[in-house]
This record gives sequence, C-alpha cells and structure tokens, in this order.
Amino acid sequence: MTAPYLDPTLPTPERVADLLGRMTLPEKVGQMIQMHTYDGVPHLIEELHVGSILHASPERLALAHSLVEETRLRIPLLIGEDCIHGHSFFRGAEIYPTQLGMAATFDPDLLERVARATAVEVAATGIHWTFSPVLCIARDLRWGRVSETFGEDPYLLGELGAAMVRGYQGDGLSDRTAILATAKHFAGYSETQGGRDASEADISRRKLRSWYLPPFERMARAGCGTFMLGYQSTDGVPITINEWLLKDVLRDEWGYDGTLITDWDNVGNLVREQRLFPDYAHAAAAAVNAGNDMIMTTPAFFQGAQDAVAQGLLQESRIDEAVSRILTLKFDLGLFEDPRLPDPERQREVVAQPAHRALNLDVARRSLVLLENDGTLPLPADRPLRLAVVGPNADDADWTLGDWAGASGQADWLMEGHPREMISTVLDGVRALAPAGSEVTYAKGAEIITTGPDPKGAFFPDGQPRPHIAFPVEPDEAMIAEAVAAAQGADAVVAVLGDRIELVGEGKSTATLDLLGGQVALLDALVETGTPVVLVVLASKPHVLPPSADRAAAVIWAANPGMAGGTALAELLLGRIEPSGRLPISWPRHVGQQPTFYNQIDAQHGYRYADLTQEPRWVFGDGLSYSSVAYSDLRVAAPAVGLEDAVEATVTVTNTGDRPVLETVQAYVRDVITSATWADRELKGVTQVQVAPGESVEATVRIPVADCSIVTARGERVVEPGAFQVLVGPSSRLSDLLSADFSVA
Ligand code: NOJ
Repeated sequence: MTAPYLDPTLPTPERVADLLGRMTLPEKVGQMIQMHTYDGVPHLIEELHVGSILHASPERLALAHSLVEETRLRIPLLIGEDCIHGHSFFRGAEIYPTQLGMAATFDPDLLERVARATAVEVAATGIHWTFSPVLCIARDLRWGRVSETFGEDPYLLGELGAAMVRGYQGDGLSDRTAILATAKHFAGYSETQGGRDASEADISRRKLRSWYLPPFERMARAGCGTFMLGYQSTDGVPITINEWLLKDVLRDEWGYDGTLITDWDNVGNLVREQRLFPDYAHAAAAAVNAGNDMIMTTPAFFQGAQDAVAQGLLQESRIDEAVSRILTLKFDLGLFEDPRLPDPERQREVVAQPAHRALNLDVARRSLVLLENDGTLPLPADRPLRLAVVGPNADDADWTLGDWAGASGQADWLMEGHPREMISTVLDGVRALAPAGSEVTYAKGAEIITTGPDPKGAFFPDGQPRPHIAFPVEPDEAMIAEAVAAAQGADAVVAVLGDRIELVGEGKSTATLDLLGGQVALLDALVETGTPVVLVVLASKPHVLPPSADRAAAVIWAANPGMAGGTALAELLLGRIEPSGRLPISWPRHVGQQPTFYNQIDAQHGYRYADLTQEPRWVFGDGLSYSSVAYSDLRVAAPAVGLEDAVEATVTVTNTGDRPVLETVQAYVRDVITSATWADRELKGVTQVQVAPGESVEATVRIPVADCSIVTARGERVVEPGAFQVLVGPSSRLSDLLSADFSVA
C-alpha cells in the first residue's frame, strides 16, 4: 500500500501531516538544514538527513539525488543556487549584466524576461530555487555588494524585484519551468558602518519602515516563495533572532506564509562571533523560535536542535511548523512525483538558446549609461577608423561578467569560468564591429592590484574561503607608454578602466572608490595625447574619477555588462544603438561624500562641505542619449484627489535632436508639509517613451495616492492630506524637473 504522503491526489496539508508523522526528530531537524557540497555529499544525506543543498556541481547534484533514493522516506531534495544574473555557475549558461547593471535599464518588463529566461535554464539543470532578487538598498558605495543590488531607490527596487519574482516563479510552482525566488537580505543588511560588510546596522525601526522594508513588503505581496536573512545585527539583536522583524512584521503584519531561510551559518555566528549563546542548543532554539524555517550551512544545528528539544529549550511543535513549510514547498513543486532532475536533452535545447542570447544583448545595450559626451560619440561608422582600445578591463572576459558568475570564486567546480567564446569583451566588440578597413590596437596600459593571502588564514571560522587581500600596484611606465603610443594619432582611444573581482563581493568592501593601481596615471597620460578619450568605466559600482576624467570626450558606465557586454558597448560607440541607461544610484565625486543618495532628509545646516560640494558627480536617474530632449507642459488630470484615487501626471517630451531616443520619464512626489522630517522628493513612477527626432509625445505617469505616504514619528505609514507636488523630468536633479501641484483631501 502506498503511504498517503506519496498519493498526489491528496491535498498538500494531508500529505504534509502524514509525512511529518512518519519522521523521526533527527529526520525533521535534518530537513531544516541546507548544506553546501564542498566537502562531499554522502554524509549530508546519510548522516545529516539534509532537506536541501546549495553550491553543488552537476556531478555532486546527481549524486545527491541518487543517494536520496536510498533513504527511508525518499524525501526529495530542494536544490538552491545563486542564479542572480543568469545561471551563474552552470558552464555555458547565459550570464546577463549584474543586477545593478540591469537596474540601469529602469525596465521591469525586461527584467521579468531575464528572470523567466534564467528560470527556464536553471530548471533544466535540476535546480529549484534561486537566491535572487536582492532588495538591499545601496547607500554606501564602499560596501562590497553594491553590484548585487538594484541601487538606492526603494520604489525602483520594488518594481524591479517584483518583476524578477514574476519571471522566476512563472505560472506558479507547478510550472516545470518555474523556480523559487528569494527576497534577500531581510532587512537592513546594507546599512553598514563605513561600508564594512555585515557590520552592525545602526538603523531605527522608523528608518526601516521608511525605506528598507517597503521593497520587501512588496515581495511578500508578490508571492515571493522564500525570504533570506542578511548577517546584520540591529540594536543588539542579530537578524537571526529578531522576532520583531521575523514574526511581528513579516508574518503578522504582512501575512507572509512563505519559507524563511537564514544566511550562511547565521546560527553558528550566534555562538561564535556574536557570542549571544554558549552553545548550539541555545542558538538553534533561539533561531527556530524566532521563526526561521531553514538553516543555511550550520551542520552543528543538527545536534544543537535535538539537544534543544531534549533540554526543553525548543518545542518539537515549532520544528514541525518549520518542516511543514519546507515540505509544503516540495509538494507544491511536485518533487515527490517528479524531483525535477537535471535533463541533459532539455539543457541542450534551452541553455543559452538563441532567444536568450538575443535577450542578453538587448539587456546589455539597455544597461549602458552615457554620462558625458562632447559630441565625439557616436564615432563615425562610414569610414575606416584608427581606434586604440586600452585599459585593464578592455579584454577581461571573466570580469565582463562580474561577481557571482563562472570564475568569481563561489563555485569550486567552475574555476576556469564560462566558455571564453560566449563572452564578448570591449576589445572583442570593437574589433568585430569597427567599420571595414579600421585598425584596432590594444594595450592593457595598467594593472589594478596584486593579491596575496590573508595573514589570518585561508578560511573564515564559518568555513567560507577568506578572500585574498588586494594591494594596489604602482603605475608601470612601459605599459603606459605602449598605451600612449596606441592612442597617438588614433581617431579615438577607448579606455576601459574599473575594478576587479578581488575588490568586490562579500567581505570585500573597499576603503576608497578610486580607480586603483596604474589606472589614473594611464588616464592622465591618455588625455595628454590630445586624442579624444572615451572613458568606459567597466566597474561593479560607481567610482570616483580623477580630474583627468573631466578632459575625457565621453564617459560611459558599463556595470559588469554580461556576456554580450562588449558587443553592446561597441554598438553604442559606433552609433548602431542609442544610449538609454540611467543611473540607479548616485555617482559620487569623492569617497568622503558617502552616502550621496538623492532622497536624503534635507534639514542640515548649509548645503555643502567647507571643502567640497555635496553634489554627486552624476545624480540618480542621470544618463544621456545621442539626441536632446525637452520636457514641457506638465499637468495633472485632477488637481484635487482623494485617498483612494491616483494622480495622473502628463508631460510633453520632445526630441529636439536628430537621433531617436528611448526616454525614461521619472516622476517624483513631494509632500509639501509633513508631520515628521522627510525626503524632499521620492520616485513614485517611471514610464519609458520612444521619441523620434523632431517629434513630441505625451508621457503619462499614474501614481496611486496611497503611495504618497510618509512614515510618521510614531513609525506609522500614512498619507497626510494637504498640498503635494509631482515633479517630472529626466533625472532626480531639481533643476531637471517640472512641477505641478495637487492636493489630497
Ligand atoms: C551568503 C550570501 O550573503 C547570500 O546572498 C547567498 O545567497 C548565500 N551566501 C548562498 O551563497
């Protein structure tokens, strides 16, 4: 007779109850554990009875699935991976621009398509769950994980995050191409001190409610299957046991019933680094009692949780609750009937299929942000050119992809990275697309850093590899001379500068935002040649540019632009496409200005530092096209609206130049008088319009009045009736915005 839990005709709750009733305490505790496979697989299945694995090579994944078949209850594994801009660690999968790069498109539909395409590839490889999207607000650019975010604005984060959740989860979990999404890192992890990764997040509940929680609330309402914690503590409380956030807010207020997973060894940290508990029994009990369902990479949780039950620190019923959530996911995914094993035939069909390659090129094009242009761009495409392509990032295939991809260090089975022939570097792109008869020369021109082992050892106490330390190198005269020689007499020099993987990622925050190593000396020398310099900042995040950058003919930001990045960049240089990216994060002039986000509370003395402006180099929303655009005639449909209504603002956008534009029309809202200090303006709506040369189009943005809220001093989010303004234009800069009044009754 088949056990009821194996009967697919029974409703999920019945199957869960039946299975739970058959499980021993060790099996239940193991079900709550997610482990990496760096140390092999058999002990995970046979001794820890884990419910989930992550970071598994295709071979280890296959082994894990087959070992589960031999277990008593044959509970299928949930397989997780950080597929955060494509199927990061599956060799030959499509790798898109980083999340920050994709955010520069300001286009939720495009991101939804990327997430859908990613899910289709991921699902074919036996992985059920991606740890994406990241909803952390990036404010201090020294933080190493800025490239994993959508930037600084909560509205944009929410729009883009919800789009990715839709894309990943497709038509629902029973859809075989759907994968579980993860809203992370809940909540406030990015509020670092001095950019230092996972430092104490000094953040009030009001501040959380004002900016940091809304994107997560959006994910909860969008049905995002799982939430993942960060590493931070706030007010003395590690997020792992923050009952206010994990229970009161997430579960009770938002009604979220998805699965909650810790971050990497958070339970171990409670004992080891945060030193809140003397042993794993106490730490396990606290983590489970606070509402965590799955425990990432803390093998000691296995014994700890059992001891906690024996010692009366933890009720088994609470374990049952967590296990029920995990089993519910597995039943809803249909894993008991079909564990969704890797399917080589389907992989051949879908991984990096032509449609995904084309989509990737499209996203890469849209991710590029043109920040300055004296008219040098686009380069003439109707005659042979002499072009010099120089710089340490001009031909670095792996770094064109960015963090969490191929050889970025998290996948011990992919140290050689993604196939070189799938990646176009800037040099590849320019060589391929320069007009016939052109001469393209290349010189690296500078190194950025060297690295060496951390004297503290190769591994962190939690077992994660400790990154090497970076040492900026001195400029190399011979390398600079070679680049200068290439630049001399050329029509243009494309200088591709930026950062490197060793300066980016978890535990790798930077003290400066400078272009390190020989790069500034290289740029200084290049501008001296008199050849127009197109500075391409191919960097994970905005960097502080040296004075010589002001003498560049053009500046472009290409956040690690993915496999098609070089092609897209060359197309942009040569005018085959129009620049359309916008900054999802402000670009500072000096590291000491941090943070520079646009929606700061504005009630300080003065408006500048004694020795420097506070204005960023480029503001949130900035970005040029090859044409010019004028905004006029902003009006609201109804100047007086009620709480249930929407504000409809229409503006005329005129293309006053001679090339087409894709214009990102940004609508900010200002609440004129507020009961508590508040941002001067906040982004509340975006629309994108194509405008042909000489034409005008009407662009309308619809903003629900319910969104025109503030958080009061008591921490409540409300719309305060009274006078408002809607500010519409091409960036967040006040002088770029038209304004129209409306009032809320
Ligand atoms: C730790 C990171 O903080 C998190 O973002 C990631 O998903 C997990 N490691 C798994 O790799």
